[in-house]
This record gives sequence, structure tokens and C-alpha cells, in this order.
Amino acid sequence: MGFSKLWLDYRKLADSRRRVIISCDRTLYDSAAFEELKNAMTTMVPDAIVIWKSEVFDDDSYLILLTLHPELSHEEYDIAASMDITEICGGSETGLLYGVFAYLRQTALAGGFCSFTAHGKPSQPLRMLNHWDEADGDIERGYSGQSFFFVNGDLEINERTLMYARLMASIGINGVVINNVNVRRRAKLLLTDEFSDRLADLGELFGKYGIKLFICPDFAAPKTIGGMDTADPLNKEVVNWWESTCAHLFEKVGNLGGFLVKADSEGEPGPMAYGRTHADGANMLARAVKPYGGIVIWRCFVYNCTQDWRDKNTDRACASYENFIGLDGQFDDNVYLQAKNGPVDFQIREPVHPLFGAMNNTNLIIEFQLAQEYTGQQKHVCWLIPMFREIMEHHTRHDLPDDRVSRIVCGVAAVANTGDSYCWTGSELAAANLYGYGRLLFDEKLSCTEIAEEWAELTFGDDDKVISAVKEILLDSKQAYEDYTVPLGIGWMCHPNDHYGPSPWGYEFDRWGTYNRADRDAVGVDRSAKGTGYSLQYAPSWAEIYGDTDKCPDELLLFFHRVPYTHILHSGKTVIQHIYDTHFEGYAKAEHFAELWKSLEGRIDDSIYQNGCERFAEQLRCAREWRDIINCFFHRLSGIDDEQGRVIY
Ligand code: GCU
Repeated sequence: MGFSKLWLDYRKLADSRRRVIISCDRTLYDSAAFEELKNAMTTMVPDAIVIWKSEVFDDDSYLILLTLHPELSHEEYDIAASMDITEICGGSETGLLYGVFAYLRQTALAGGFCSFTAHGKPSQPLRMLNHWDEADGDIERGYSGQSFFFVNGDLEINERTLMYARLMASIGINGVVINNVNVRRRAKLLLTDEFSDRLADLGELFGKYGIKLFICPDFAAPKTIGGMDTADPLNKEVVNWWESTCAHLFEKVGNLGGFLVKADSEGEPGPMAYGRTHADGANMLARAVKPYGGIVIWRCFVYNCTQDWRDKNTDRACASYENFIGLDGQFDDNVYLQAKNGPVDFQIREPVHPLFGAMNNTNLIIEFQLAQEYTGQQKHVCWLIPMFREIMEHHTRHDLPDDRVSRIVCGVAAVANTGDSYCWTGSELAAANLYGYGRLLFDEKLSCTEIAEEWAELTFGDDDKVISAVKEILLDSKQAYEDYTVPLGIGWMCHPNDHYGPSPWGYEFDRWGTYNRADRDAVGVDRSAKGTGYSLQYAPSWAEIYGDTDKCPDELLLFFHRVPYTHILHSGKTVIQHIYDTHFEGYAKAEHFAELWKSLEGRIDDSIYQNGCERFAEQLRCAREWRDIINCFFHRLSGIDDEQGRVIY
């Protein structure tokens, strides 16, 4: 299948010059920065010849200088652009590449060469994508087709992989995990020689684009590959096995950054089976990769997934913090703990994970999910960047001069939303999530409006009507989705397993620890000090707010409290009326998005338009189900009518 160039589909500029001269030291001729600029200029100024040496420099020439500047840091760049001459400086070839992409973006947005200066340096040191691709080509929670990494049982490196590396570098991604965190069934092979040559080639390609390659290993590999009868991290032979496996792997795969590990979670093997701690497991691997500059990213998504729904004392939300807080300070310096953005699992609304406000002596990474598992599976438009930004800007009230999540973490990861579909993300509009994610991590000062505008213009061109419609859809879409799905932070009213569409009691009597406890009198889970005590995992001033029904923010009320349907929110509405209103309003917003999209017929590429129409039709069908089933569910339970007398089935 072919593939779209997404936001790197360079268009012709309004410029008729005959010559674009790219001047740089010849050692840069092989760099990705030089190649990108050369290819982009050939498309953007088609009347010109693009050359890198010229005796002639006249009115018909445009000169671009590429230089490396040792006083800039590795990923930093400076741009000084004018109508005739531009200088792009980078701290390294990667910094230079980021500078080239920034320059091309500005120039594309302006529609022609223009004067500006820019300085860029990423806001986050680690900017990762986690692919949940399987060695057999499937993608767990993938909504965009099959894997383009693993094709026909092999690790594929082709034009698409190159395009992928360019796209990722253009938004500043510098670490990519290519396989699923759930490894026990299928991905042992990546540690063996079967894939190491291909991994080396992929690593080399990624390296050229400033991206480190990561893999998820099988923690039980000493058993499953090594033929041993234990994977105990404190066993000397196990340690030796990992040391020699890593020595071999890192020697072969030059650009390997390290491992991402899901251990003792949802059936994945880990150190606890041997009575060892997460620190024992993570440090053992960290020591094996340390000689090669590798790091180990260890996930905090650990909870009891065989809970009895009758048990009201066990609270899944508490689990991650409880499993890790006691280990603060025990991890080696090349271990990073990766916690999801909220304590449970990528719901449309959760409080910020409490570990970010509590750990003092541990490297932390926050994990988001671009794959829209619980947020419409790329059939619904749900632009997540406002949510990511809000979480990154959240004040944890940790005892620090700058207590925002963005300053506490030393990296960010997101579950990728890509696959082998033509437009990479199944829906064209879902690509805005991928784009926005990278841009936000690189430059945290960008507003959501700026990012939406940039993406819309780079994707659809400069038709004002298109830009304004797409911008409106993106900016309002997350709130609309929250409105017509699960109210007030309660979460989990989706179909079990596939997590798509409404099923208010789908998870209620199951083992996953995901309950709404709705009955005829009340709804929600009491996580205050009087309940499961989850609110106490926060800094005292947050614990006081979250733990009090009068102070808790409306949007999280049912996450933290069990209240009657007649409870009055800060908004002045009762809980039940809020549920009815938001469901009618959310659906109306989705209808409005579909109409806005329809108004773009003939103004955007027809196949993109059709793809959007199909997806909006499905979004409307499903949003209607959400609206009517959730309203009906709460109406039947509470027996309270809608004040406005609208139809509730
Ligand atoms: C969710 C998701 C799983 C995934 C898990 C994880 O529970 O449904 O498919 O494996 O998260 O993050 O590890």
C-alpha cells in the first residue's frame, strides 16, 4: 500500500528564482539535514536548480548556509532567514536537522521565502513513541491497519520506514520502541540473532534522523530463550545471561537505546514471581545495558487484574503508587519509571497520576496514548493535545520551585496511533494527534490553537475556510467526546475487550477493578479518606480538594466520590441534569463537526474528504448510541426526568 507524506508534502512556493544554493561543509553532504533541504527545495522552488556549489550569486539566487556550532547543545538550532539568504545552525547533525525542519515549516506556512529568526531547543529531553506492534504484523489496540515494521514475519526497512523516520524527526521524536510491551506471547525473537541484522539496519536509519531505537524484551527470556529454569534477577546465571545477551545485541545494533519493560502486569513476567522487587528487576537489566550507554524504561502500570467486583476495599487507582512509592531512590540512574498520565488506564478523564507529585529520587516518564483506544478508535475525531497540555501544565504541588508535571518528568512517551494505512493513522484527522504530540514536547510554549493551525495549514493548504473549520473541529473535539461518553470522570462504561461504544455495566461485574457502582441512589467510587483513601496519595493541598465533595472539581467528581443524583455541582446543576445536558450537547457538537466537514467538499482532496465523511457518519452513529444508552441507563436507575423534557428512551 502507498502512503501519504502527511505534513511533509511540500508545496510550491511563490518564488521564481532560478537558483537555490545550499552551502555547507562537505562532511554534511550525507546528513539528513542536507538531504531534506535539497529535496524540499527541489519541490518548493521547481523553477530553480538546487545546487551546493556556485560561482554565481545574483538576484536570481537564494542562498542557504548550513553550519554546526559547538556552542549550541546537541538538539538545539538557530535560524536567521531573510529574503535572499538564510543561515541554519545546529549543535549537531540532529540539531541541524531540527533547524531545517523548522525552517521548512515556517517557509511553507508563509508560502514563500521570508525574514525571520528562530531558536529551538526541545522542552523535553526524551520524546518517545511506543509502538504496540507484534512480530507477526498485528498491532495491539491498532486502528490504522497492520504494522509497517513487521511484515511477513520480517523486520521491514523500505521507503515507508524512511518516510516514517523523516516524519518523526520533523516533529522532534528522538526515541522509538518498535514492539509491543506485551511480549510473552510473540516478541522473544528480537533478542535473538534472527532479527539482529535488520535491527542494526533500522537503528542506523533511525540514527541518521536523531532517533534511538528501543525494544521491549521478554523479562523471562533467560527461560524462554536461554533454556534456564529461572529468570530471577538476583540469580548469578540470569545476570550473566543478560550481560552476554546485551553485549552481543548492543555490539550488533549500534543505535540501540535500551529496553522498555512491562513486568508483573496483566500476566507479563517480572521479578515478583521470585519474591524480588521492581527495583531488583529494573536495576539488573539497567546494569546489563549500562556499558553501552543504554537505559531501561520500566512501566508502573501494575495492578491486580483478577479482582473480585464484590471487594470494595481494593482500588485499582491506588495500585500503581502503592507498588512503586516505597522504591523511590532505589533505582539506578539509567532506569526511568514510566507511569501513565492517570492512575487507571487512558480514560477520557482521570486525575493526574499521583506518582508525579510524590517521587523525589527517581527518573520519571509520563505515558500518553495516541492510539485512541478509549477515545473513539480513530473513527471519532478526538484531538487529545488540549488534554496532554493540561496534564503537562498541571501543578502537582510537589515541594519544588516549579511543580508542573512537565518539569518533574524527564521524558514523555505515547502509544503510537500509526499503521500501514495510506494516511498512517487510519483517519486523516487522527494524524493531528501525532503531529501535535511531537510539537508540544519540542516546544511546550505552543498553544493548542497554534498547533492546530499549523497542522491544518501544512496538511490542507491555506484556504481560510478549510483552516477555520478544521481548527474548530480539532479544538472542540475532545470536550465533545467527553460530553457524549462517560460523565464526570467515572470512566469505563465502554464495551469490554474492544473498548468501543457504550456498555454502562460492561465492566461492572468483571475482574479488572473498573467499577462505577451506580445504583438507584448514587453513582461513583468513594476514593476519599473515608473511602479507598486514594485521594491521600496526593500532596496535602490536593488531597484536601480531591477528598471533599464540595471542593472536588466537577469533571472528576465521580472519580473521587459516590454522590446522589441530586448532588449539586459547582456549575449549579444536579449530577443527573449534568449527565443529560452534556449527552445532548456532546451529540449536537458531533453533528456540527460533521456539517462543518461536509462544507469542505471540493475544497480538500476528495479521498481525504470521503474518508472524513465515512468516519463522521460512524462517529454520529456511535455518539447517538452513547447519548441514548447512558441517558437511558441513568434515567432508569434514578427515576429522575430531564428538566427539559427531551426524549430519553
Ligand atoms: C490497556 C490495554 C492493553 C495494554 C495495556 C498496557 O489495558 O487495553 O491492551 O496492554 O493497557 O498499557 O499495557
